Amino acid sequence: MNLSGNTVLITGGASGIGLALAERFLKAKSEVIICGRRQDKLQEAKQKFPALHTKVCDVANANERVALLEWIETEFPETNVLVNNAGIQHRVNLDAGTAGWEHYRQELLINLEAPVHLCILFIPHLKKVNPSAIINVSSGLAFSPGAFAPVYSATKAGLHSFTLSLRHQLSKTSIEVIEIVPPAVNTDLGGPGLHTFGVPVNEFADSVMNRLANGEQEVGYGTSEKNRLASRQELDEIFKRMNG
Ligand SMILES: NC(=O)c1ccc[n+]([C@@H]2O[C@H](COP(=O)([O-])OP(=O)(O)OC[C@H]3O[C@@H](n4cnc5c(N)ncnc54)[C@H](OP(=O)(O)O)[C@@H]3O)[C@@H](O)[C@H]2O)c1
Repeated sequence: MNLSGNTVLITGGASGIGLALAERFLKAKSEVIICGRRQDKLQEAKQKFPALHTKVCDVANANERVALLEWIETEFPETNVLVNNAGIQHRVNLDAGTAGWEHYRQELLINLEAPVHLCILFIPHLKKVNPSAIINVSSGLAFSPGAFAPVYSATKAGLHSFTLSLRHQLSKTSIEVIEIVPPAVNTDLGGPGLHTFGVPVNEFADSVMNRLANGEQEVGYGTSEKNRLASRQELDEIFKRMNG
């Protein structure tokens, strides 16, 4: 895809991978709108990159997703790229089974229901602005689950599957469907300090943007690149190695 001249909406864009992508789209001379639940994080991001536009939105809430599209159509009708990046990760042991349903449901809502609904909501809008793109952020765990995060891994496998079908169904339209497949990246996902073993976010984002510019539609990095290209037998070996 062409990285410049776009108007890009990034959910969960105030931190981590979303903010790193936002910074790079700005640098490439695109307009960028970021949304998230925490006003203070959005403000912090705007202080760092004053050109950013911000919007408080909880994508777990279906009404707020509808309102987000309405706001975009009024304030930024030229928006031509939707990046479904917002996500949470809960490390849970289902054998202990102590968390209430709402704890698990939030992961399903934010990581799977929200991006699926936002894609469906935005398709008619994105057809009007040519060229356009949907970028879904899944995970290497979509291909080989992390047993420490069973619901999270399932949501990412679901998002990967949905993205494949979406790309197929939109192949005759002007909407390009892209999937970013991060490996472990050093962000605050799941809480501060849980992903310090991951690759630096800037290194990851630089690689992703180069490959998007080259026209690739499914982009991993390091271990997630291996996962996404692995055979079933290799995935079984990766699962055993990763989950002990
Ligand atoms: N870091 C990794 O190792 C890794 C690996 C594979 C995939 N990923 C994926 O990459 C994406 C970005 O994660 P990250 O690593 O950059 O973590 P992060 O820094 O925690 O970023 C997640 C962002 O999502 C926002 N968010 C969460 N729930 C939201 C909601 N209900 N509505 C709107 N925004 C919401 C958060 O802001 P608020 O809390 O203010 O809403 C935050 O800005 C996620 O989809 C994640 O699953 C990350």
